[in-house]
Amino acid sequence: MSILQVKDLGVRFATLDGQVQAVNGVSFDLARGQTLGIVGESGSGKSQSVLAMMGLLAKNGQASGEALYQGKNLLTMTPRELNRIRGDRVSMIFQDPMTSLNPYLTVERQMTEVLQLHKGMSRKEAKKRAIELLEAVRIPDAARRIDMYPHEFSGGMRQRVMIAMALLCEPEVLIADEPTTALDVTVQAQILALLKDLQRDFGTAIIMITHDLGVVAGLCDRVMVMYGGRVMEQGPADSIFYQPSHPYTIGLLGALPRLDHDGDELMSIPGNPPNMANMPKGCPFSERCGHASERCASELPALIPGGHRADVLRACHKPAEQLIPTMHKEVARA
Ligand SMILES: Nc1ncnc2c1ncn2[C@@H]1O[C@H](COP(=O)(O)OP(=O)(O)OP(=O)(O)O)[C@@H](O)[C@H]1O
Ligand code: SF4
Ligand SMILES: [Mg+2]
Repeated sequence: MSILQVKDLGVRFATLDGQVQAVNGVSFDLARGQTLGIVGESGSGKSQSVLAMMGLLAKNGQASGEALYQGKNLLTMTPRELNRIRGDRVSMIFQDPMTSLNPYLTVERQMTEVLQLHKGMSRKEAKKRAIELLEAVRIPDAARRIDMYPHEFSGGMRQRVMIAMALLCEPEVLIADEPTTALDVTVQAQILALLKDLQRDFGTAIIMITHDLGVVAGLCDRVMVMYGGRVMEQGPADSIFYQPSHPYTIGLLGALPRLDHDGDELMSIPGNPPNMANMPKGCPFSERCGHASERCASELPALIPGGHRADVLRACHKPAEQLIPTMHKEVARA
């Protein structure tokens, strides 16, 4: 059963250069306990897609489409309705923990306040629960550390505190926007393992936003690859990872550091992401794609089935079968 159904989500910003369509035609279903990875380079529309659902767009932004949480559209809810869901049923963790932690309050005060407000617990009950959650995210000596201020924690520990905060009300959906990019590789791996455990124990559905396809491989059930505000390819994580059927996904995989190679063999996609204020008329990826034809520059490819598996959607004019030899070459060079 899906708890979140997103249909044709769009985000548009009014800017001095005119209207910028930052997100276009994003649709997905998230089932209970499932993990969806949203992957793409900087500026591809990953964050704005989820911020739109949470009612957190900048003032010049406007969302369109539908984001149905248990059948009710988050995009048309009153701020009061949305506040009840946000931070309780659907919660979000950000790249920088200090955007959601208050530097002037102890972790204990921040955590107990939420439980007192949303769950009607007494301060004492709330503190007990908060310590349990800090233990669940493996903060050593949680009963003592809970009385510390956010700045007294290391970066990795602060990220764990934020995950514990996000889990306080046992949300059904946890949105994690690049939760590990600021951390070193070992801590990253620990946090990802932790999210996996928490998902198993709490049955939380997770939307995981990342630049790095490697992160989604171990954690996600489904993956959506975005470029220029649009979905390029979408489907089960193992198909996307092992049998990508879109030139952009193949490029991203080429840019993936491989454990069996030296880091300097990393190959990135040539060129830069498009300027959102001046998007190509056809395929957003056409200016950087090694497979582009004349048609690609003039005609936007629709997101339709056509990958190597029937349950993969892709937006590309070139048939998936014709990409295979190039793909092997590109992946082999990575
Ligand atoms: N307030 C705003 N006004 C105009 N454009 C905006 C605004 N906020 C975001 N954008 C544009 O929306 C596009 C998508 O941004 P988004 O934050 O979703 O990217 P992202 O995929 O999350 O990238 P990153 O990986 O760097 O976080 C970008 O081109 C950005 O410049
Ligand atoms: S539609 Fe054309 S430009 Fe776009 S990804 Fe496919 S081949 Fe490349
Ligand atoms: Mg972002």
